[in-house]
Amino acid sequence: MASGRKMSSVEPEPEPAIGLAQMLKEGTASLHDQAEHAAFQTRMVSGELSRAEFIDFLNQVLLVHRTLDGLLSEAAATDHRVATMFHPVHRREEKIEADIERLGGTVGAEPLASTSRFLAAVDHLTDRCPVALIGVLYVNEGATNGNKVVAKRIRDGLGLQKDFALDYLDPHGSEQRRNWMAFKGMLDELQMTEAERESCLDAAKATFGLFMEMSEEMDSASTEG
Ligand code: HEM
Repeated sequence: MASGRKMSSVEPEPEPAIGLAQMLKEGTASLHDQAEHAAFQTRMVSGELSRAEFIDFLNQVLLVHRTLDGLLSEAAATDHRVATMFHPVHRREEKIEADIERLGGTVGAEPLASTSRFLAAVDHLTDRCPVALIGVLYVNEGATNGNKVVAKRIRDGLGLQKDFALDYLDPHGSEQRRNWMAFKGMLDELQMTEAERESCLDAAKATFGLFMEMSEEMDSASTEG
């Protein structure tokens, strides 16, 4: 008769360690494909947006970043992991305001329904698990990789000078690659429980989702004239 070696079914094997940067990348890869091909993004990349549409878009992301910059600052004051990740270069509020003004637009707009939902979701998230804001920051920082290219297309589409500053889309300039590699390196060094890492991933997914909803709403508003 077998002598009951049941231990293996009781003690779970630990999951192989995977860095947070890779976990976030893999966990959001399919959402990135969708975001990249969303109608509004496609029009941005093809340089089809009018100046007014681009200013409307900037005003919506301004509302998002005003809230987000504040929440990240507050979270950084109480959580050293957020403090490690969130630096002055990540603040977008003033950069977006300056972009709008340089483009001859007016700063300030009512939030779209999707923007309000985004803000409510981020607020709720911060109450539950402030460190999850790192997942939101990951998406916004990661997006600057593609946005650098988008900025070039927008300049072409709007007939702007090659060096016309579009700092929301391209906040890092020639430091893009270096800053992004450093950001990913820091992500991998953070000490987090598995539950906290999962919260960051959930927050990153939610950020992609909410960003796509906003793009959809912007696109329908544009095409409805
Ligand atoms: C407009 C179309 C877009 C293009 C052409 C584009 C392109 C790219 C490219 C080329 C990279 C790779 C950078 C690298 O590792 O060298 C990248 C990364 C990334 N993009 Fe986009 N992107 C677009 C839209 C977006 C949007 C709308 C979001 C989110 C709202 C986003 C979020 C990210 C993130 C988080 C990463 C980092 C992936 C990683 O962890 O390596 N992208 N994008």
